[in-house]
Amino acid sequence: MPYLSPALNVMIAAARKAGRRLIRDYGEIENLQVSMKGPADFVSNADKRTETLLVEELQKARPGYCFLTEEHGAIDGPDKTHRFIIDPIDGTTNFLHGIPHFAISIGLERDGQLVSGLIFNPVTDEMYVAEKSAGAFLNDKRLRVAARRELNKSLLATGIPFLGRPGHEVFSAELAAAMATTTGVRRFGAASLDLAYVAAGRFDGFWERGLNAWDVAAGILLVREAGGVVTDLNGGGDALHGGHILATNEHLHSQILKLLRDAAKTAKS
Ligand code: IPD
Ligand code: CA
Ligand code: CA
Repeated sequence: MPYLSPALNVMIAAARKAGRRLIRDYGEIENLQVSMKGPADFVSNADKRTETLLVEELQKARPGYCFLTEEHGAIDGPDKTHRFIIDPIDGTTNFLHGIPHFAISIGLERDGQLVSGLIFNPVTDEMYVAEKSAGAFLNDKRLRVAARRELNKSLLATGIPFLGRPGHEVFSAELAAAMATTTGVRRFGAASLDLAYVAAGRFDGFWERGLNAWDVAAGILLVREAGGVVTDLNGGGDALHGGHILATNEHLHSQILKLLRDAAKTAKS
């Protein structure tokens, strides 16, 4: 059995409660998909409602903690040493299209350090949790990153810039380099689950630009506690707030970092 701190238990209870509601909402999507109005407003309401429920549940159990959330931004509290970082639905586009690959993501910081993390896909009932210095788990199973050392045998995941997001050229160069040197690149559409899959050894690595702290807070801890390495795309330590991330195992990290940096340089020059 994994060690679950009291705080992580509180996070799990809140995510399970929100997840039950989210599954009902998800059931509605199929009907709305074929209606003229489409599900966009419904999904945006489900997003907000999920976040409100999570914040309320966590505030009840941990009054005074601060929050950083996707929908409400920063919520201040008297206890400045603790902060929950929440993405109520990561993978909203999947949710909106009736694709069962989305998750609630909650990270907890103490004194600016990630100490607990949870990523929960309510449809598959996969509950990923991590506790600083106590490991990462999928349901009750201990997670380890993949042991693979060769880039040409590795499977990577990424996120693709969309709509008006910047960085299409850099991304195209990075993707071309990854396509040429690995066994494949996946784009599943939920950064939190991409990181959880790295922690579970399913993906050998994940990189993406244009991310926010709520996309990656829980996932960073999961990968590290599963024995992986997480940096920003400069190889530095600010993967949480830096907006870009590379998560992989210790053997592949320098190889993938070099590959992506060299590719990005060609796009800029
Ligand atoms: C998005 C997902 C997606 C990633 C985007 C994120 P959202 O989060 O994690 O995989 O490529 O950059 O914004 O909007 O579904 O919460
Ligand atoms: Ca997100
Ligand atoms: Ca979201």
